[in-house]
Parts: sequence; C-alpha cells; structure tokens
Amino acid sequence: MSRHKDNEGQNGQAGAHGRPQHEQSLAEELTDLQTDIPVTDLEAAAETANALIAEAVFAAAAENRPARADQGGPDQAGEPYIQFRDVTISFGERKILDRVSFHVGRGQTLCILGRSGVGKSVSLRILLGFLKADSGSVRVDGEEITTMGERELQGVRKRVTMVFQNGALFDSLTVGENIAFPLREQGGLAEDQIQQLVTRLLELVGASDTRERLPSSLSTGQRRCVAIARALAAQPEAILYDEPTTMVDPIMGHMVADLIQRLKHQLGLTSIVVTHDMRFAARLADLVLFLDAGEARFFGTLEEFQRCPDGAVQRFLTLDSYVIPQV
Ligand SMILES: Nc1ncnc2c1ncn2[C@@H]1O[C@H](COP(=O)(O)OP(=O)(O)OP(=O)(O)O)[C@@H](O)[C@H]1O
Ligand SMILES: [Mg+2]
Repeated sequence: MSRHKDNEGQNGQAGAHGRPQHEQSLAEELTDLQTDIPVTDLEAAAETANALIAEAVFAAAAENRPARADQGGPDQAGEPYIQFRDVTISFGERKILDRVSFHVGRGQTLCILGRSGVGKSVSLRILLGFLKADSGSVRVDGEEITTMGERELQGVRKRVTMVFQNGALFDSLTVGENIAFPLREQGGLAEDQIQQLVTRLLELVGASDTRERLPSSLSTGQRRCVAIARALAAQPEAILYDEPTTMVDPIMGHMVADLIQRLKHQLGLTSIVVTHDMRFAARLADLVLFLDAGEARFFGTLEEFQRCPDGAVQRFLTLDSYVIPQV
C-alpha cells in the first residue's frame, strides 16, 4: 500500500514529534490505553522501537542484496550483473559507440573514462533504456533489455538507479519529503519507519541539516548528496553516477567522492561511475572502461589500465595528472 498521500501533514509539515500533525504517535496511542505509565517512558520506548525497526529494515535491504562479489577482474566466473556486448549507436552519420563491450559483476564498481563527447552518458542512457542501441546486446541481471517495452524498462530502472548531475529532485518537496518519496512508493512501511529511514539516509550522506529545506536552496554539491540519499531510498541493486564530482568546488567534489567510496564499502552496491577524474577513479574502480573515438579502447582492471601501454590511454593518464589539481 502506498502511504504517500495520506501521511503528509498540512503543507507537508511534521508535527511536534517529527510526525505529521494529524497522526497520533504509538506512545500517545498506548498512553490512551495505559494511563498509569508515564508518557515520557513510552515515548522513549517507542523511539527505541522505531530505531530498531529502521535498523532492521536497513539491514534487511542490505541482506536482500546479493553478496558482494569477489574482487575478480573481467574474467570472473558467473553471470555479470550488467553486460554490454557489441553495442553500436549512431546519431545521423556519426557513430558514437562502435561494438562496445564491457561487464560489471555484482558488488563491483566500474569507472567509465574518456574525453568529452565519447559516449559515456550515452552508454548510461542505453543501459537504462532511455536510448535504443542500433545493434548489440545489453543485459541486466541476465535479462536482455534492448527488446523490452517501456513497462519492463521501468522495472529495470527501479533496480538500477541513476544519480543525475542536477539531482533531479522534486522542487516543491522538502529534502526529507524527496527522500521519503521512493520509500512511500514501495509501500509497506509505516510513517515512523519512513521518517527513521530518512534520518538514517541523511546521516549516511552527511546532509542531516538540509532535511526541511527545499532543493532550490541547496548548493549543487548538497543537491547531489541528497540525490544519492534518494537513490538509495529506492533500495536499488545498482547505482549509476554521471560525473558526480564535476561542477562543484574541489572540496565539495572531494566530499562527494568520499561519500561514493564509503557507500561502495558500506553497502557493496554494484556501481558505474562516469568520470573524467582519474584520481577519483583510482579510489573506486575495480574495473575501468576507457572510451575513445567510438571504441572501448580499454576494458580491464584498474591496475591493468594504469600500466596499459596504449598511446590513447597514456595520453589520457598524462593529461589528467597534469590538469587536475591534487586535493
Ligand atoms: N539524443 C542525441 N541526439 C544526437 N546526438 C546525441 C544525442 N545524445 C548524445 N549525442 C551526441 O553523442 C556524443 C556523445 O555524447 P555523450 O553525452 O555520451 O558524451 P560524454 O562522453 O558523456 O561527454 P561529456 O564528458 O562531455 O559529458 C556527443 O557528440 C553528443 O552530442
Ligand atoms: Mg556526459
């Protein structure tokens, strides 16, 4: 059951206990029945219970996710979670991707590197079915998505979530309500549990102080952290980031990079990170895809990439170490 509509307070405001005004708390309900127990004790008990429920929901979500794969390279055994095989796409006369192949195992992080305009964002849009490849195969958890209709693709987009650069948050909802949105969509959670999860997620991304604010009042970096919290609220199996550290100052870029690295280790989500920033990639990547002039010029482990003698790879690595300041 979706509790989206019926649990919002007037103007979306929470009541004195952090709950919508028209809702009676568990403690208040119990007080009506057991008037000899002090309200404060019951409030404390309810708060503890809610915290435990939130822990349990969070832990269950983590458990439901498949175990983190061993840090295998591209030749690891078993079906990859995401797989591109010979994917080709052209816009008019321009071939953007020419028989590009790569794969990512469960719990692994792939960084897609390459200069501007090589088709990094296009690859993510093909993966989510927003763009159709001209040929080739794209599989998510073993299922071919190139032949799926819109309805099936929406199912894929729930399992594989994208963090957009601008955050793509709902402007009229507060940060807290934005994060609560996917939790309400899923249904099955009580309002107190939703609020507890929102608290946990905001803590996780270091944005607790933004809860009551509207997205328009946030900096780009803060919006990005909140967008990550909202993506996590949907409990995806994989998360895609398109240039998460660009267009913010170096300190904020570093913070977002730290957050993504922490999420990789704490949650073990399968991730694809598009970036220009080799230092950021070096902190995260199990696997690297380097796109150049329409081709997958390199696909392999980070260590192999850093040692790769290919001229285009070396130029990219050298230029990157020259241009990007150390932070
Ligand atoms: N819907 C579209 N119609 C026509 N051309 C497109 C479309 N989407 C992307 N392109 C073109 O495809 C090429 C690759 O675009 P893409 O956005 O994937 O680049 P990118 O590698 O993400 O670059 P950047 O690092 O600048 O974000 C670009 O030349 C772009 O203009
Ligand atoms: Mg792009």
